[in-house]
Amino acid sequence: MTPETIEGYGVRLRPCHPADVPEMVAGCADPQSRRFMPLLPDPYDADAARWWIAEGAPAAWAAGGSAYTIADPATDRLLGSIGLTRVSAERATYEIGYWVGPSARGRGVATAATRLLTEQAFTAGAGRLELLTHPENVPSQRIALACGYRHEGVRRAAGAPREGVRPDLVAWVRLAGDPPGPTARLLPDLPGGRLTDGVVALRRVEPADVDALHRLHTLREVVANRVPPVPPERAAVARRCRLAATRWLAGEAADLAILDATTGVVVGGCALFHDEPATGQAMVGYSLLPEARGRGLATRTVRLVAGWAFGIGVLRLWAGTRPDNPASQHVLERAGFRREGLLRGRLPGPDGSRVDSVVFGRLATDEN
Ligand SMILES: CC(C)(COP(=O)(O)OP(=O)(O)OC[C@H]1O[C@@H](n2cnc3c(N)ncnc32)[C@H](O)[C@@H]1OP(=O)(O)O)[C@@H](O)C(=O)NCCC(=O)NCCS
Repeated sequence: MTPETIEGYGVRLRPCHPADVPEMVAGCADPQSRRFMPLLPDPYDADAARWWIAEGAPAAWAAGGSAYTIADPATDRLLGSIGLTRVSAERATYEIGYWVGPSARGRGVATAATRLLTEQAFTAGAGRLELLTHPENVPSQRIALACGYRHEGVRRAAGAPREGVRPDLVAWVRLAGDPPGPTARLLPDLPGGRLTDGVVALRRVEPADVDALHRLHTLREVVANRVPPVPPERAAVARRCRLAATRWLAGEAADLAILDATTGVVVGGCALFHDEPATGQAMVGYSLLPEARGRGLATRTVRLVAGWAFGIGVLRLWAGTRPDNPASQHVLERAGFRREGLLRGRLPGPDGSRVDSVVFGRLATDEN
């Protein structure tokens, strides 16, 4: 590839030059850049920027990749940086990477630059582009989806070690023949970020929910429904809270906190799992903290989730309850589900035993 300037909508990709140094330092010394680009020199100062311009970027070009400054077309000032690393010449595969300085974030700069470089790479003969993100780098994952990249999986412990821990990397991939995006999502964002009927409100689980959800998931009667039926460590709940956003974007689960709509206090948890996308089936699970029970909040929650699920294309929703859990069965019936049958020995119980599951289902076409 040769370092030619590419003009795009709202962004220009051009070779970097010495006037970029101050903005390059501001962008790469920023804490978010440091967190999600652990291979940057530390500290990132003017010498590091000059090294990139004189040696790093030319080396990327010489290796068959690219290294552009993302510039404002009106001023030619640096907004960020983007480039391709060649993964394999024989297979025409590349990895795309980028950053945008803090003062230019949140207005579509990275999305526009990624779209532009992606199209240019395919025009130049690339067959497959990979975009690897830290699991908690939500903005970058949204950029991937906007530019037609698809969630391909998690590369376990593929990231650069930090404080002795190697993070997973999430692989987003676009092939030359894939449509330009945005990529369709099995689980779109909630409208306005929440579902509410005025009494309960549901929103995506957040890292700050860890205390309430750890208390919830270590309650004896909630543990009994877990697979396997053992209480989770606090660290496992914290991880689930941190990863809720990426699992949602990947279409795996909509992990929801149930709030008292008046106080905003977390009173429980609910999750929609796309367990069988090919048939349009999804599963719902829920539990409430003891102080929130007996007020119809679980029924309201399931009704809200079912309404949303059918609106985004789910055709059949199901839930399984233990035979000795009449409260949960009552919730499902009041939320329009029908008892469909008994799955014998469906779930692992304590001490190697098996537990039956009573299955309830509701179809998108059912009368409520
Ligand atoms: C990731 C980064 C490049 C984004 O740059 P940007 O120009 O702000 O990106 P855009 O404005 O094009 O798009 C950002 C998307 O993330 C969303 N977003 C931004 N901050 C967010 C946050 N804290 N939580 C959730 N979403 C967020 C935006 O709403 C937008 O998504 P949408 O278009 O679907 O609404 C920039 O934050 C950055 O340089 N970060 C540090 C380096 C880095 O992470 N590089 C990528 C490594 S894989």
